[in-house]
Amino acid sequence: MKRLACALLLAFPLLLRAQTGMIVTLDDGWRFTPGDSIAYAAPAFDDSRWVPVKVDRIWEAQGYEKLDGFAWYRLRFQLPLAMRDSARLRDGLRFFLGKINNFDLTYLNGGLIGVNDTVVPPGTRPDTAYLKADVGLWNVARTYVLPADDPRIAWGKENVLAVRVFDAGGEGGMYTGGQSVRMMTLGDYLVIDTRSEPFRFAGHDLSKTFTLKNVSPVHTLHGSLTIVVRNKVSGEGIRHEVRDPAGQPPGGVMDSSHDVREVTLAPLASRDFTLKIGGLDQSARVTYDFVIADGAGHSGAAEETPYILTPLPPESPRINGPAVTGTRPGRPFLYAVPVSGVRPMTFSAEDLPPGLSINPATGIIAGRIKNRGDYPVTLTASNARGKASRTLRIVAGDKVALTPPLGWNSWNCWGLSVDRSKVIASAKSFKAKGLVDHGWQYINIDDGWEIVGTSAEPKREKNGDIRTNAKFPDMKALGDTLHALGLRFGIYSSPGPLTCGGYTASYGFERNDARSYARWGVDYLKYDWCSYEKIAKDTSLPELKAPYLLMRKMLDEVDRDIVFSLCQYGMGNVWEWGAEVGGNLWRTTGDITDTWESMSSIGFNQLADGRFAGPGHWNDPDMLVVGWVGWGPSLHPSGLTPDEQYTHISLWCMLSAPLLIGCDLNRLDDFTLNLLANDEVLAVDQDPLGKQAVPAVTAGDIQVWTKPLADGGKAIGVFNTGKNTAPFTLELSRLGVQGSLPLRDLWRQKEVRSSGGTVDLRVPSHGVVLLKAGVASR
Ligand code: GAL
Repeated sequence: MKRLACALLLAFPLLLRAQTGMIVTLDDGWRFTPGDSIAYAAPAFDDSRWVPVKVDRIWEAQGYEKLDGFAWYRLRFQLPLAMRDSARLRDGLRFFLGKINNFDLTYLNGGLIGVNDTVVPPGTRPDTAYLKADVGLWNVARTYVLPADDPRIAWGKENVLAVRVFDAGGEGGMYTGGQSVRMMTLGDYLVIDTRSEPFRFAGHDLSKTFTLKNVSPVHTLHGSLTIVVRNKVSGEGIRHEVRDPAGQPPGGVMDSSHDVREVTLAPLASRDFTLKIGGLDQSARVTYDFVIADGAGHSGAAEETPYILTPLPPESPRINGPAVTGTRPGRPFLYAVPVSGVRPMTFSAEDLPPGLSINPATGIIAGRIKNRGDYPVTLTASNARGKASRTLRIVAGDKVALTPPLGWNSWNCWGLSVDRSKVIASAKSFKAKGLVDHGWQYINIDDGWEIVGTSAEPKREKNGDIRTNAKFPDMKALGDTLHALGLRFGIYSSPGPLTCGGYTASYGFERNDARSYARWGVDYLKYDWCSYEKIAKDTSLPELKAPYLLMRKMLDEVDRDIVFSLCQYGMGNVWEWGAEVGGNLWRTTGDITDTWESMSSIGFNQLADGRFAGPGHWNDPDMLVVGWVGWGPSLHPSGLTPDEQYTHISLWCMLSAPLLIGCDLNRLDDFTLNLLANDEVLAVDQDPLGKQAVPAVTAGDIQVWTKPLADGGKAIGVFNTGKNTAPFTLELSRLGVQGSLPLRDLWRQKEVRSSGGTVDLRVPSHGVVLLKAGVASR
């Protein structure tokens, strides 16, 4: 078997060339115009006066900052007859157009071929019903496969692609890059689905189901599947088992590091397998390769396995969460004491300020503090296994968000398809999965709760109050439900007439909206920028500040503490004035997605603004992309590898970033929970000093960031941004840390020995080692 695997691996490059055939790249030469006319679809239309445009970046990055609504892209290209004739299969022509923000109608030579990632038959008339504001398609890559004899294709001649794009708000246009067209290969029909099921932990083992799918209705696919599992750090092969759940696969159970088997799949057939690997304390790299017999195609997939570092909390009570929390006197106060440990548990609080009381059964502290002051409160929790006490400072003054907010937001998972039941289910999971026990507090609804901007119905009541859409029938009841669980309630709007998703926003009705929020019990407002670009005269500072000053004033008029989150992507160096306009946090960048490029380029570039962050006002590098995400109705596991996810959480904690979980909490697997429930790691984020980390040492791909902590200690993040595991010797003296001080690995919650002031580390590629040094030297 092993020899066969080697032979196949050696043959890969050849096979690949044979199957790929000719590709015509479509990523250059496009022309562009804002506006809309069906005449633009016609191949003969003269687009010579349109402007050249890139299709690897949004149009806002190319001089169209204010453009929302329709725009067209056109490209002329040749389709050589040889492409069709040299192809092994002559049945399909595959266009890859990349991601398009938000909606597309794609024409080839004047005929509509695709709408929002669905191919349409010849003669289909455009239907603007595709402009559905409750579906988020901005993150979906468009692939259109046409039969090779489709009348819309002009073989051996010039072809014209015309893409009509509608942007509902915010970023717009074709933006991925790598656009191309080529003939289908048999490998295109073989899907190795490794992402529908995450790895599950069973004792010391990891297992998952993966599926081979033949998506062709006509071809039978026959070939060999090779699975290779290697330790990511040492490169050594790892024993594993692959089983067919319906019985033993041909060749029996494989337990070597290489595994090859013959598989035949009838048209549209699929077959499940389970893969089992012994648990590791680092990732294994798994590669799946399917080579179709006779070199007729190839399909591959690769992934890294999750590994759990966070120890389970003890069964006895442990009080977690921030050491300080802020409120303004006279405003409603709600704080559920975060405690891990077995239930039932009883709670008490000594020296609570007048006006507050604690529910001994739930640990929820509620009420209103009458007088300003700094109140150290002794919290106690007891259960059958023991008792714990800890001090929480409640500061009744001018500030809220004295530590970065911790919570959940609907956007990165559900996008515009969020609804009431998804929000309530998330809140319940917060409790059921124990996240509340580690200090997670906010449940925030992002865009999609308001009445749609294109709706024929009135957008507001006669008195100007905003109307919600049918998915959110009763916001007050929703707020009450969240508060009863001890959670805080967040909401979203925009200062323009419409939100980024095309829903009704606050322009002209800011006072009504602030009052509605207060009536519903809202504790947090994320306030975007979308469609305000049409109202602002220019991008001068007074214009950038105006909508936020206005909403701040309205929020100050109502009888609630509402955390104010600015979401204008860093324009005008918002960090320099975000606090001045009353912001408690402000986005410093565009939207994050679940790729290493996106997360790492945001996270490692939060430098200029560090000194402006502190208690009550935080830089916000955007929400978390761990767990199942999707920005719409269908979700997928984060595209970040497990090491990248450790980096994401570690870096955000080092940056004192607000942490808003962006995944479906009902599908919270053990690995994701381990990322979100490590109290020593979260304590770095919630440190009351509120300093943002800075890079202290850079050596090749290694970046060492340090963050001073309130207890005089220092958090140290050693990140490897490179593609290979890197050995690295950390010299503590270079970080201003005495070698004799205690050093702790925060993910493993274990002491680390330094020898002579140095620590030898092996940092996995794209991974991290997060440490805390006892006390910093002066
Ligand atoms: C974007 C914002 C996202 C999300 C979205 C809603 O501008 O950056 O985080 O809120 O709007 O439409």
